[in-house]
Amino acid sequence: MSAVKLTEGIYWVGAVDWNIRHFHGPAYSTHHGVTYNSYLIIDEKVALVDTVFTPFADELIGNISDVIDPARIDYVIANHVEVDHSGALPRLMSIIPNARVFCSLKGVDEFKKHYAPASGWEFHPVKTGQELKLGKRTLSFIEAPMLHWPDSMFTYVKEDGILMSNDAFGQHIATTGRFDDEVNEHELMREAAKYYANILMPFSVLVLRKLKELQDMKIPVNMIAPSHGIIWRKDPGRIIDAYAKWAEGKPVGPAAPGMLVVYETMWGSTEKMAKAILQGAIDEGVDARLYRLFGTDESDIITELLTARALVVGCSTINRGILPTVSSFLDEVRGLKPVRKIGAAFGSYGWNGGAVETIEERLRTAGIELAEPGLGLKWVPTPEELESCRELGRKIARRVRAGQA
Ligand code: FEO
Repeated sequence: MSAVKLTEGIYWVGAVDWNIRHFHGPAYSTHHGVTYNSYLIIDEKVALVDTVFTPFADELIGNISDVIDPARIDYVIANHVEVDHSGALPRLMSIIPNARVFCSLKGVDEFKKHYAPASGWEFHPVKTGQELKLGKRTLSFIEAPMLHWPDSMFTYVKEDGILMSNDAFGQHIATTGRFDDEVNEHELMREAAKYYANILMPFSVLVLRKLKELQDMKIPVNMIAPSHGIIWRKDPGRIIDAYAKWAEGKPVGPAAPGMLVVYETMWGSTEKMAKAILQGAIDEGVDARLYRLFGTDESDIITELLTARALVVGCSTINRGILPTVSSFLDEVRGLKPVRKIGAAFGSYGWNGGAVETIEERLRTAGIELAEPGLGLKWVPTPEELESCRELGRKIARRVRAGQA
């Protein structure tokens, strides 16, 4: 895909990765691909903001060449060292060895550890509030540590009100349209939520702090140009508002599940329990979703967890513990630190229990409040026992409803 104009003198020159299906190793499924955004700003001086993932270096250089000879780049602004944004930088720097590289102080260290040639680059570490004059335009830097790495920062084009926010406000999606008014809104918001849930959720406190900082700066934001996915030009406030809600575990819009019932089963007993719990939620009029972990993509469930109020987890007992799919899922949940969640555990067992206790401990460790005592049932559940599962579902659903009121 060739260069696309954002406004006079500012161009998207990134790359669309249509075929990538996993990001961060296997952790994050990218059913709809990924886009690496890089921005070229042409003024008396020429600046490039971020590059692209290593295999797309030729595409980046080709897109820059659509607009200007790449050798004319004076400054590279590296908002973030992670390889999806900097992988093409060594190749680019071989063309422009005298270009100055602007990044955060932590970025300098990280670059030198990532790329051997970086020891020869002319780095200019910057802090929040520092500016770089290009001619008519001015770039202003805003440090954003842990959004997504310690080195992360934003670059703000003052005269145009364009916030180049790197990972923040991004989505993993491959599209022919580059702007929010050119793509399906529902798909866009769903991918933005998935991105937040799987990448930024552990840093929600910092997200809220950064949103407040931006608000206090009173800078006009006419466009948000992240380094992944779609550029927010029609309504940049929409994604800012969504981040404020997601950071507090609240849904954006009405169509969000209140309860997730996530389970794994050996011979079907725990599955019967899961379905009875789900029925309890339905009895109470709560939107609930049922997921068996085997064969289900964890990162899709995590997306639902971003805004769901309750997480009810079940597993058959094996060796006094839990099955690997449940263990993996709970590990992921613990690492992502969801906020404002209630939970409960359930599962069947044979001669010894163990799964319910293990799940409860893991939910507590993840910061999830146990709303009801765990429910363990021996062998195959009787109709009466399934009624107790349904009642568990009703009780949790009432807590969900109370929280939604
Ligand atoms: Fe898109 Fe943290 O890299």
